[in-house]
Amino acid sequence: MAQERRGEWGSRLGFILAAAGSAVGLGNVWKFPYITGENGGGLFVIIYLICIAFVGLPIMIGEVMLGRMTQRAPVGAFTKLAGETSPWRGVGWIGVAAGFVILSYYSVVAGWALDYTLIAARGEMSSGDPAAMAERFGEVAGDGLGATLWHVAFMGLSVAIVIGGVQKGVEIAARVLMPLLFAMFVALLIYATRLEGFSRGFEFVFGFHTDKLGPGSVLEALGHSFFTLSVGMGAMLTYGSYLKRDDDIVGASVAIALLDTAVALLACLVLFPITFTYGMEPAAGPSLVFTNIPMAFAQLPGSTIWAVTFFLLLVFAALTSAISLLEVTASYFIDERGWSRSVAVPVCGAAIVLLGIPSALTASSETFGAGMEASFIGMSWFDLFDYVSSNWMLPLCGLGISVFAAWRLGDPERRAQFEAGSKLGRIAGLYLTWLGVLRWLVPVGIGLIMLHALGVFG
Ligand code: TRP
Repeated sequence: MAQERRGEWGSRLGFILAAAGSAVGLGNVWKFPYITGENGGGLFVIIYLICIAFVGLPIMIGEVMLGRMTQRAPVGAFTKLAGETSPWRGVGWIGVAAGFVILSYYSVVAGWALDYTLIAARGEMSSGDPAAMAERFGEVAGDGLGATLWHVAFMGLSVAIVIGGVQKGVEIAARVLMPLLFAMFVALLIYATRLEGFSRGFEFVFGFHTDKLGPGSVLEALGHSFFTLSVGMGAMLTYGSYLKRDDDIVGASVAIALLDTAVALLACLVLFPITFTYGMEPAAGPSLVFTNIPMAFAQLPGSTIWAVTFFLLLVFAALTSAISLLEVTASYFIDERGWSRSVAVPVCGAAIVLLGIPSALTASSETFGAGMEASFIGMSWFDLFDYVSSNWMLPLCGLGISVFAAWRLGDPERRAQFEAGSKLGRIAGLYLTWLGVLRWLVPVGIGLIMLHALGVFG
């Protein structure tokens, strides 16, 4: 068990900032807009918002609570509450495994953003021609060796921060850069409202269209609600384990979910007006943010500075998320195996680097038909990792976390945890509503969505 002194957040805001830093990342800016595009916008966005409010947020509260109660990372938390030999530990295992898988391809995308930052700095992005932008992305993502090196560089940065420990590394990074990213998006939104394609973009995001919605779409919305909130693998549990007894879990969770959703919707409201104004493709896939944002900047004075700032902030948003993923995998070895932080973090980082190499080599194959062979059931390695981890591992592990929190924890203690330090948590009926949602709505909802995706309902 833990040999070193366990970290604690330096201030009340420390947890909120770090957890928000974990939640807001490539999921909001890169992934959400592109899956919204692929699933036709509209109804997909509505289903996603429902999943956030009724599945992701309630699970986040339960997950943070389990962390604070046990002061452990996921596997240790279940060991402590359910026993050394309990099958519940398997839920923690899925979480740790999901951390390895997610970070392996997440880091590849973050590597592209790093590469883009330098491309922008060299002023090579101001052409303002959609075809040239697409070609540029093809060069970046299609260059396997380059993508691998950027992936290694990004993992190196993550390892360096996580070795520094909870307070110094995570908190400082989150505190300075999150507000900047938000401000940048607000500025971009103002720009987007003045584009001729704004109303079409707005309608695409918030209109009610069902045409592209398939059985997999609902699962995708569910999986993404876990992914974007960083729930369902024990990251929030691990961050919660550094909380003090009287911190407000409910208030913090609501704030994080609202902020995360705001950034995701902002990203869509910036990207789709650009898409429609310049006749680009809404279902462009993983290249969306990398082609559309430079398109917009090309029209602005000082395009180089704008582009460098944007991609740099994107790298930092990815970094504050990546460190939470790395923290979970490393915490397992620190808490359960007695490794020191300075060994566990680089070893996990190296394993993730290796696991990510196939993604770095295959990411662009599906998007650009570059003819790379490494594929399985018609998906590239990159897509497969993304699909399996966010659509299946996170909801399954999240299901375990919620069933445990809702059915196995004892009541006076659970209610006390819910209400501690929280004005919101003491609102009459809120505790029982949350418990009811976790007990019934979450398991039934996740079950039905999975059966639907498997085609059980025809
Ligand atoms: N939420 C992050 C994003 O949207 C990704 C992430 C960080 C994550 N930590 C996580 C996803 C833990 C799932 C679980 O980019």
